[in-house]
Amino acid sequence: EKGGYDYFMLKEIAEQPKAVADTLLGRIDGSGSLRLDEVRIPASVLREVDKVVIVACGTAFHAGLIAKYAIEHWTRIPCEVELASEFRYRDPILDQQTLVIAISQSGETMDTLMALRHAREQGAKVLAICNTNGSTIPRESDAVLYTHAGPEVAVASTKAFLTQLVACYLVALYLGQVRGTKYGDEIRDVVCDLSEMPGAVERVLGTMEPVRELARSLAPKGTVLFLGRHVGYPVALEGALKLKELAYMHAEGFAAGELKHGPIALIEEDLPVVVVVPSPRGRSVLHDKIVSNIQEIRARGARTIVIAEEGDEAVVPYADHLVRVPVTPTLLQPLVATVPLQVFACELATARGNEVDQPRNLAKSVTVE
Ligand code: F6R
Repeated sequence: EKGGYDYFMLKEIAEQPKAVADTLLGRIDGSGSLRLDEVRIPASVLREVDKVVIVACGTAFHAGLIAKYAIEHWTRIPCEVELASEFRYRDPILDQQTLVIAISQSGETMDTLMALRHAREQGAKVLAICNTNGSTIPRESDAVLYTHAGPEVAVASTKAFLTQLVACYLVALYLGQVRGTKYGDEIRDVVCDLSEMPGAVERVLGTMEPVRELARSLAPKGTVLFLGRHVGYPVALEGALKLKELAYMHAEGFAAGELKHGPIALIEEDLPVVVVVPSPRGRSVLHDKIVSNIQEIRARGARTIVIAEEGDEAVVPYADHLVRVPVTPTLLQPLVATVPLQVFACELATARGNEVDQPRNLAKSVTVE
């Protein structure tokens, strides 16, 4: 049932191109428009939405953090993202014009369920993004957009995360399409770019041997840091979470711009630091800033592991290890940049003799608060 792989996690990482393709299937029509009729919230209601609030836990929360960038950019609707476990305890401001998006692979996470119940009690509309048909979270929501990752068995989430991102992009683009914004042309372009993503993920998977080798060489290390900016910041958080849960290593993700406000004090000789670099095209200011961040940490002795787009030459002089990812629109980069981090964590866990599919102390779905 592991399809020839040693672990379900490896199988599920390899299934990501298909999972992404399946989640797009039937949702984009021939003319490059989105068809999300299955989201049974009428367009008239979506046009009135004045705030989006995303609630989720763990990896699904990281998908939500990335969704915020996409939703605010393409729809111009303010979007908050909150850990489901914190949400209802702070008396959040919700009303009929609030769209709450609950993201959950299992559809059974108690924290997320309690958050969405609270939101509905306040009159908000709830859209679930979920991978499990007929589970509790979609049943209790006003609408659901299913991710089509197929069953995810390994405790650490991989393919579900990529499909959560796809679903978030679809919702963001659909909201933009329904409401009409100045980004209409960009939205149409990105809808087309989305169909290239399964191939892009496949290409990344084909180049992972050096990442595995690097991971094995880092097995004796105690700490790995992850840095990113913009959508690369949640990717850094996800890379760190994967490493904690699988390799049982101290790992932290930071927004690269925060370095000088504290974390840079952690940098010491030979400390591995993974940096997720945004595209040099588009938001090039961000790119230049992160290149100087890499220079700064390297000057202080860090061993830099740089994830950068193909053709980005500016990072080359400062990368001890360089991992290339395909060129994508800025907001879609997490779909390719996350994959090396999954492979990295999985290989490190194996090298450290850990149980990859069943990390200690963790359960696949957390049905207590
Ligand atoms: C991390 C992981 C967890 C889950 C979290 C939410 O690899 O698997 O952080 O993402 O427990 O679970 P779902 O998505 O089922 O609500």
